[in-house]
Amino acid sequence: MENSRLAFLFTGLILPLLVASVGINYGQIANNLPSPEHVVPLVKAIGATRVKLYDADPKVLKAFANTGVEFIVGLGNEYLSKMTDPANAQAWVKSNVQCYLPATKIVSIAVGNEVLTFNDTSLSGCLLPAMQSVHTALVNLKLDSQVTVTTAHSVAILQSSYPPSTGAFRQDLKGCIAPILDFLSKTCSPFLINAYPFFAYKANPKQVSLDFVLFQPNAGIVDPRTNLHYDNMLFAQIDAVYAALASLGYKKLPVQISETGWPSKGDEDEIGASPENAKKYNGNLLKLISQKKGTPARPNSDLNIFVFAMFNENMKPGPTSERNYGLFKPDGTPAYGLGFSGIAVSSGNSSSTGSPSPSSTGTNGPSIYLSPPANSSSGYLAISSSTYFLYTFTGKVCLEHVGNVGHGVNFSGSVLRGRDNIM
Ligand SMILES: *[C@@H]1O[C@H](CO)[C@@H](O)[C@H](O)[C@H]1NC(C)=O
Ligand SMILES: *[C@@H]1O[C@H](CO)[C@@H](O)[C@H](O)[C@H]1NC(C)=O
Ligand SMILES: *[C@@H]1O[C@H](CO)[C@@H](O)[C@H](O)[C@H]1NC(C)=O
Ligand SMILES: *[C@@H]1O[C@H](CO)[C@@H](O)[C@H](O)[C@H]1NC(C)=O
Repeated sequence: MENSRLAFLFTGLILPLLVASVGINYGQIANNLPSPEHVVPLVKAIGATRVKLYDADPKVLKAFANTGVEFIVGLGNEYLSKMTDPANAQAWVKSNVQCYLPATKIVSIAVGNEVLTFNDTSLSGCLLPAMQSVHTALVNLKLDSQVTVTTAHSVAILQSSYPPSTGAFRQDLKGCIAPILDFLSKTCSPFLINAYPFFAYKANPKQVSLDFVLFQPNAGIVDPRTNLHYDNMLFAQIDAVYAALASLGYKKLPVQISETGWPSKGDEDEIGASPENAKKYNGNLLKLISQKKGTPARPNSDLNIFVFAMFNENMKPGPTSERNYGLFKPDGTPAYGLGFSGIAVSSGNSSSTGSPSPSSTGTNGPSIYLSPPANSSSGYLAISSSTYFLYTFTGKVCLEHVGNVGHGVNFSGSVLRGRDNIM
């Protein structure tokens, strides 16, 4: 990644934030999303270097060619039984992975999403064989050293998660999980987990501290067995996963948080779903990621997190929250003022579709869409010695700030991710 690439939070003050390694889920269960070419600059604007898809959408994979963004592509649960046949797996890998390499940096294939928590034994029974077939196909095509094979689990595969050191897998799933862990370990592939402190809060708003789930200042909890102090629920959940893995002998398996996020809107009974809380959750999370912090039990492991999600997805079934996890609305404006870096601007000179008014971004909080950057001494952009790169996005002019004057626009590091399944 380019070391001089800085992103800025426009919070009134400008906080420099070196965005280390943010991933984003790029789900597309919607009929109103921008075309993938228009998503490329948005991904870059949030500083994402990795993207997770729920499929292997050719339009997306083509649009992100030569961007440096790393991809996890998905193979949906509905394909698992078919993929247990090595010939099918090989055909799939050829036409959905191999043909995009190396221009599009596909680094992993997530076979199935949250399969084990459907309690569908025939589906679960296909999971490992499908992963093995896909891996064998990669070996045959000599791609196994660059593309790993994994699967994303729900945190509900845990039977216990509190205190974190007691983390353990559901008893009835251990027989199924152990061989998957063996596979991941032997193929040097990561363990993926989807974790939503939102659900814990929603289920129990009286008992769960909102500050604890939103990464806000709070007293936190101490794990009595390790004496480690936890001031947020996500880290407690991640360490519970590490404990569960260690209890089966897989202490060294790398863990990635393949989904986490917070909805900006929900039904009446979905306590906590609001733009203010979503902004706190995702804003604080991005800050933590940028600080390259590990969890209390694994302070030296980078957080490897994919935020859910890029866009609100209007066709997702389920409660209202399901359609409102996006950082962006389908028109490319922020769902709430997260203060993203380096994006701006409604331009006075944009396309014929007209420029959006600054008020279209809402009145709460900072917005990434600023007034035209006509003048660096404006209150918004007091970074006069900086270089700005302009590019257009759906009729708006976006502004990218790059630290060093004279530096090329170089986003060799962005990645998005998507998600298809309901949780
Ligand atoms: C699956 O089974 C577990 C353990 O029996 C249970 O707690 C859970 O609610 C079930 N999940 C679904 C989606 O049926
Ligand atoms: C707007 O863009 C057009 C074409 O790119 C250019 O000719 C014109 O000078 C611009 N106007 C302003 C005010 O920048
Ligand atoms: C920028 O704005 C300030 C105050 O609004 C003004 O004094 C200054 O001349 C402007 N500079 C440029 C380059 O337009
Ligand atoms: C971006 O970086 C890569 C690798 O460092 C380099 O090859 C490429 O020319 C750069 N692109 C721009 C536009 O600076």
